[in-house]
Amino acid sequence: MAKHRLIVIPPPFQGHMTPMLQLATILHSKGFSITVAHTNFNSPDPTNHPPDFTFLPFYDGLSDSYTVSPKNVIHISSTLNTNCVTPLKELLLRIMDENKANKEDKILCVIYDGLMHFVDSVARELNLPTILFRTTSATNYLSYHSLSTLQSNGYLPLQDSSSVCMEVVEGLEPLRFRDLPIFNLGECATDMMVKQAAISLSVKPSLGVIFNTIEFLEASSLQKLRNLYKVGVFPVGPLHMLMTPPSSQKQEKNNHSMTTSLMKEDYSCITWLNEQEIGSVLYVSLGSIASWNERELIEVAYGLANSGQRFLWVIRPETIMSIPEEVKTLAREKGRIVKWAPQREVLAHSAVGGFWSHCGWNSTLESVCFGVPMMCQPCFGDQRVNARLVSHVWKVGIDCSEMRIGREEVEGAVRRMMVSWEGKEMRERAVLMKDKIMVDVRDEDALNGLVHAINNHNS
Ligand code: UDX
Repeated sequence: MAKHRLIVIPPPFQGHMTPMLQLATILHSKGFSITVAHTNFNSPDPTNHPPDFTFLPFYDGLSDSYTVSPKNVIHISSTLNTNCVTPLKELLLRIMDENKANKEDKILCVIYDGLMHFVDSVARELNLPTILFRTTSATNYLSYHSLSTLQSNGYLPLQDSSSVCMEVVEGLEPLRFRDLPIFNLGECATDMMVKQAAISLSVKPSLGVIFNTIEFLEASSLQKLRNLYKVGVFPVGPLHMLMTPPSSQKQEKNNHSMTTSLMKEDYSCITWLNEQEIGSVLYVSLGSIASWNERELIEVAYGLANSGQRFLWVIRPETIMSIPEEVKTLAREKGRIVKWAPQREVLAHSAVGGFWSHCGWNSTLESVCFGVPMMCQPCFGDQRVNARLVSHVWKVGIDCSEMRIGREEVEGAVRRMMVSWEGKEMRERAVLMKDKIMVDVRDEDALNGLVHAINNHNS
């Protein structure tokens, strides 16, 4: 019997690949067949996914030796939007031909990440319906709609020295100018980003727009976005909550567990967490792109050690030639350093009492869903927007965006998070927030609406 197939197209970045593969897994559980069309660069591992997922690569023209960094994300995205048009078209045509020949699945629609906006016109040319997946916060995307106007009104580029930095942006309350994703980018990169945002916003998917968020977290931004889009808006998140919950008891990755990680997760840190007291460990990670330099690593190590608190620290190998002996020695007594952690299992663990994070949207969602308060250290892009939500709107995090990375400053911030009254109150608020999110997630209204929209369009 012919099945109903969805083609999902993630960009080759961990923070975007993860929510797309989570969405694919959830839609698979609703009865759809899944094909993941992906770039050769940073390709996902098919063995980590259900055996009936089909993974098909298309040419991207990117070298394997590339490392994704804050500086080249916009460049890589714009290269993909140029290089991949013909290869993706050929791939989709091949899938359609094979389906026709074998009387197999019908392609119901193509779901693509906003960074891969070229997909929309390719799919339309082939008469395939499209859904746009916005993988960062709704509030961040809402801010994209203001960038061109801010540029025409002479506000950009925005630097530390800009007089308006601390002012709230009209229509984007409570975001200040300094919270915008183009803050401190410099003239050239600001220009490129404003152009990319304009192209991305001009794309009009035929079936709708998916957000990895929920009403409870971003009701007002979602409402404004609904007024801007002419198609359905589906806040189906937080997607990781709709998947199998992580087990805090897990010692080793079992063969059947699904991971969206592009790097190997070190499960030995869960064994270490099992030995720590409840709420006593600060988890430290800047996600898959941001990093501290060697001087900062040493200062962070001293700050953590001097705070007297326990910590689990992710230092990705590509960010440093070798971890300085000084850092290793300081970490030995009270901490644990890993190259890549099973983050959701870590945040779900009762030993973890705080998360020093760059506030990538996935990390932010994972932290609030597991009731863990944050030290917000946004580095680039949407992270300042997310940090503002965490510290100012939800009040479950300390704003460290202005903190100098020096040992005294770090020690003070860690103590503030882990042992002060303020930290305790944030922890209590975070737990209440987690409970409210759980209630919202359970009704699956938006997800059912999305499934209905896909099926209905094709019936
Ligand atoms: C990027 C951007 O930087 C981010 O701002 C944007 O919102 C999404 O794309 P990234 O920097 O990697 O993502 O951050 P984040 O969104 O937090 O995603 C990181 C993912 O990697 C999370 O799902 C996290 O659970 C996972 N992770 C991180 C691990 O599994 N192990 C680790 O050790 C660190």
